[in-house]
Amino acid sequence: MEVERVQAIANLAMSMKTIPSEYIRSENEQPGITTVHGKDLEVPVIDFSDPDEAKTIRSIAEASHDWGLFQIVNHGIPGEVIKRLQEVGKQFFELPQDEKEKIAKTEATAEGYGTKLQKEVEGKKGWVDHLFHKIWPPSAINYQFWPQYPPSYREANEAYANCLHGVVGRLLKYLSLGLGLEEGELKAAVGGEELVYLLKINYYPPCPRPDLALGVVAHTDMSSITMLIPNEVQGLQVCKDERWYDVNYIPNALIIHIGDQLEIASNGKYKAVLHRTTVNKEKTRMSWPVFLEPPPEFVVGPHPKLVIDESPAKYKTKKYGDYVYCKLNKIPQ
Ligand code: SIN
Ligand code: FE2
Repeated sequence: MEVERVQAIANLAMSMKTIPSEYIRSENEQPGITTVHGKDLEVPVIDFSDPDEAKTIRSIAEASHDWGLFQIVNHGIPGEVIKRLQEVGKQFFELPQDEKEKIAKTEATAEGYGTKLQKEVEGKKGWVDHLFHKIWPPSAINYQFWPQYPPSYREANEAYANCLHGVVGRLLKYLSLGLGLEEGELKAAVGGEELVYLLKINYYPPCPRPDLALGVVAHTDMSSITMLIPNEVQGLQVCKDERWYDVNYIPNALIIHIGDQLEIASNGKYKAVLHRTTVNKEKTRMSWPVFLEPPPEFVVGPHPKLVIDESPAKYKTKKYGDYVYCKLNKIPQ
C-alpha cells in the first residue's frame, strides 16, 4: 500500500492553510490549549568538563530522578561533527520522494524511511516523517538502510557514532555510580557490549496549524537512554505537574532522556521522562535522537542489588523485544 508522507501532505496543506482532520488532536492534547506559554523550562545542565566527578555524578543522579531529562554541555563531540550529521540528514529528506522510498521501511523491518510509528490512538496522526538505522556497534549496522545520497552520509554518521560512543561510556558509568552500583554494572544490566545505538531522524515539515497538530504524541522512550540533538527550531516539550513546557535549548548540547529500560533497571530511582513535540508554522523542525537499546533477546529487570526489603521490585523482568511489542501495540506491561 502506498503510504502518504507528511512531507507531501504538508505541501498541500500550506497552500490550503488547513490540515486534514486526522492531524487535529483532541482538545486535551492540542498544543495551543495545553502549552504553558512564555515560560521555557530550564532543565538541568551537566558540564562534562567539570573536574569534580563526584559532583557530576550527584547532579546526573538528581536530574535523572527528578526530571528524567538533562542536557550535557562540553561533551567533547566537535561542533563540526554535529553540523555534518545534521547537514547530510537534511539533504536526505530534501531528495525527491522516489529516491527516499528506495529505503522505505516494510512490515518486516524496523529500520528505514517511514511515517507511522505505533498503533494510532483514535486514528490520529503525527506531523512527522522519519528515518531509522543503527549506528553502533559496527557489527550491527545494516548499511542497506543508510541513504546513498548525499555520498558523505556514511562518513558523517560514522564520525558521529564514534564520538557518541565515548560520551555513552562516561554517562553510563556516572549513572551506575549514582545508583550506588559499580561503574560497569548498569551498562551490563541494559545490554553491555551488545547495546545497540539506533538513530532516528525526525523530519517535521512546516504546518499551517501548529496549535492543533502534534509532531510526536506524549510518550516515554522505550530505550535505556536517548541522546538527542535538535535543529534550531523549538519543539521539544516536557510534562511537569500535568502541564506542558518548551525545553530551553542550549546550542550544541546533547539532550538526554531517561527511557523505560533505565527506569526499570534502576527499580524506579531514575524516571523515564514524559515528552512530546510540537511543529512550526514556517520552519522545518528536525531532530536526531539516538536510542540506546538492549538487543531484543536481552532480559531487563530491576537490578538485583536495588531490590531489597525496603524497596521490592516495582517492575517485571522481561525480554526487551517483548517489552517493545507490548508498548507498540498498547498491551499493558
Ligand atoms: C521524540 O521524542 O521521539 C522526538 C523528540 C524530538 O523531536 O525532539
Ligand atoms: Fe521520545
